[in-house]
Amino acid sequence: MLGSLARRFAGDGPYAGLALLPDRILWPLHRDGLDPVERMAEIRGREPVSKLPVPFGIRAWLVTGDDATREVLGSLDGFSNDFGKFAGKVGIKISADPGGLGFADPPDHTRLRRMLTPEFTMRRLSRLQPRIEAIVADRLDALGAAGAPADLWHEWALPIPALTICELLGVPYADREYFEKVSMSRFDMGAGAHAPLDAVSESLNYLDGLIKEQRRIPGDGLLGALIRTHGDAIDDRELAGLADGVLTGGLETSASMLALGAMALMEDPAMAAQLRAGENVDAIVDELLRYLTVVQVAFPRVAIRDLEIGGVPIRTGDVVICSLSGANRDQQVGAEPERIDPARRPGRSHLAFGYGVHRCIGAELAKMELRTAFPALVRRFPDLRMAVDPADLQFRRASIVFGVDSLPVHTV
Ligand code: HEM
Repeated sequence: MLGSLARRFAGDGPYAGLALLPDRILWPLHRDGLDPVERMAEIRGREPVSKLPVPFGIRAWLVTGDDATREVLGSLDGFSNDFGKFAGKVGIKISADPGGLGFADPPDHTRLRRMLTPEFTMRRLSRLQPRIEAIVADRLDALGAAGAPADLWHEWALPIPALTICELLGVPYADREYFEKVSMSRFDMGAGAHAPLDAVSESLNYLDGLIKEQRRIPGDGLLGALIRTHGDAIDDRELAGLADGVLTGGLETSASMLALGAMALMEDPAMAAQLRAGENVDAIVDELLRYLTVVQVAFPRVAIRDLEIGGVPIRTGDVVICSLSGANRDQQVGAEPERIDPARRPGRSHLAFGYGVHRCIGAELAKMELRTAFPALVRRFPDLRMAVDPADLQFRRASIVFGVDSLPVHTV
């Protein structure tokens, strides 16, 4: 969902106004290589809650400190995620509400999230482990066969979460190829801004058809389980919103982590060697999540009462944007936050999956994918290296989900 929002920010249609935002607002989405820009550390040190000069007469704040971010994301009585509250302010049509969890407040959020939670327990997810292993092995074959250079993004990073989510949702086997195509092309800006938007509506149409089909004969995946257990308590629109949230929340995010994580591993042979030996896998994955923080900002929050965050007065109606990439480089994470150090012992967990009731529901699934895929990659291709100078890579310039659209590598 965050991914689709990012794309809609960049395109036209209902989010057109946001595409015009100037760099003085978009700078928190810029990066310097894999790092947040220098200004992030300056602002965090000086003013962890600072004014953002947003147009439309909106008062907006950028939160970059770890403590202040937890305060905002943890405050249910202080802030709302409701799409209507935010959309009205920035000139987005309410009809653009993508549904799902990220733009909902309790009690709706609680009701919908409770329906999804059983599908994301470790017990339920563990049945996907063998499938993830098979998908990873298959994509390693494809990467190896792709020639020199091979595009790690297209052959490996993007298909792994796309196919995993097919499994999770219970997309019928015959539809897999089509589903993979629409879910991948919705993120492909190479064909111009219209292509992803067309693909969004195509995949929503597809999900709609799938839901109707599964209402008749519930399948084995998440959709079938939701229909079997809660079929009467959830309408098709809500179901499509949940499914779309899972699709977009879990696809581009995990794909970016796989691609940028692979880059980090190519630049750090000692870390790659540890993974190859099966050592410190959990710690390395967690540290890469913190360091890369691919979801750069949380969903916008709107203050629903006057309050203070980090000593700064916030008024009812103010918009607050939490920079997760900023907060994850706060000194709170321990010494030298700008370094990848799997041995660090932070006093608290990182914020790459957010915090509070909206914390990523797919965090464990994402970690399963990363813990499976990274060691398999470095074992299969011990000589894996970039085929271009990292300085020449085209990173996304101002996207909520940071990443690349292509990653040329040599596998041998
Ligand atoms: C490395 C991969 C991922 C990252 C970095 C990530 C990051 C995040 C973050 C930061 C949030 C919270 C945003 C906020 O509070 O404003 C979030 C929410 C969410 N994520 Fe993820 N995510 C990842 C993978 C996944 C996967 C695999 C799925 C599902 C299959 C998923 C589904 C969702 C959903 C449905 C929400 C909304 C939860 C709610 O509002 O209650 N994500 N994610």
